[in-house]
Amino acid sequence: MKVRKAVIPVAGLGTRFLPATKACPKELLPIVDVPAIQVVVEEVLHSGIEQVILITGRGKEAILDHFDYSYELEDTLTKRGKTDLVEAISAISRMVSVVSIRQKQPLGLGHAILVAQEVIGSEPFAVLLPDDLFEARIPVTRQLMETSAIYGTGVVALIEVPRELTHRYGIIDGEQMEEGLYRVLDLVEKPDGDRAPSTLALPGRYILPPAIFKHLAVTRPGVNGEIQLTDGLARLAREEGLLGRVVEGTRHDIGDKLGFLQANISFALRRPDLGPELRRYLERELSKE
Ligand code: UTP
Repeated sequence: MKVRKAVIPVAGLGTRFLPATKACPKELLPIVDVPAIQVVVEEVLHSGIEQVILITGRGKEAILDHFDYSYELEDTLTKRGKTDLVEAISAISRMVSVVSIRQKQPLGLGHAILVAQEVIGSEPFAVLLPDDLFEARIPVTRQLMETSAIYGTGVVALIEVPRELTHRYGIIDGEQMEEGLYRVLDLVEKPDGDRAPSTLALPGRYILPPAIFKHLAVTRPGVNGEIQLTDGLARLAREEGLLGRVVEGTRHDIGDKLGFLQANISFALRRPDLGPELRRYLERELSKE
């Protein structure tokens, strides 16, 4: 079945970016001049999906405003002749149909996905975690949709990570089917290197069948007392089958301060209006060391 809906959970507290996130949702922190959440929504659109379901929590209203029509701002900019800016901001509200559901308590990512059940119903859907940004020739969600369409199952994105970093990720135990494609046998949340069944990690992009909901509904709180998506995925893998696709592209973990800075530099270096001057600045700074 065609994937028509994408779930983006944004109900987390964003504690790693305090104090910046005390009054501003971390998903609105900019990657150069575009809020991170918009970069993720653009990946959804470029993958051919038209409906976004945001799972929100307290203090996240500004994200919905960002995707809403802003009459006063557009009117003022039009009167000032700033038509290019009017186009840039109105394109956002035209871009996508955004539905939001409130996760009343932050009980974990697995719980946030379960909250989406009422609007997903019984069709497969994409999940994108907005802490992970990709620069990719083919949008990563589209790469997964292509694999899912061929095999008719759920597919999770995989990236290779160094063994000393497995404790930061969900890690799969898998059986290779072909180059870059694995049958997922089990998943472990944040294992230390010596316990990790592989170095294939989940970077926050998934195509899931509706069967995931029944598994999440019976998943007990795990690591940190939260309902973990990884535990629901492990049940899904055992009962319905699940594939892992090593995705092509550069991934940035913008939930991490260093990753956030790297994403900003990387995106800026690729911009014709900023890249050349930024490159000269970085070269000058580095030559001082
Ligand atoms: P994280 O574990 O990174 O938590 O959530 P966080 O609150 O976003 O950030 P830190 O670690 O405190 O800085 C992973 C993803 O799951 C969502 C988050 O919004 C993020 O997209 N999430 C997490 C929820 O939607 N609900 C939850 O209860 C927990």
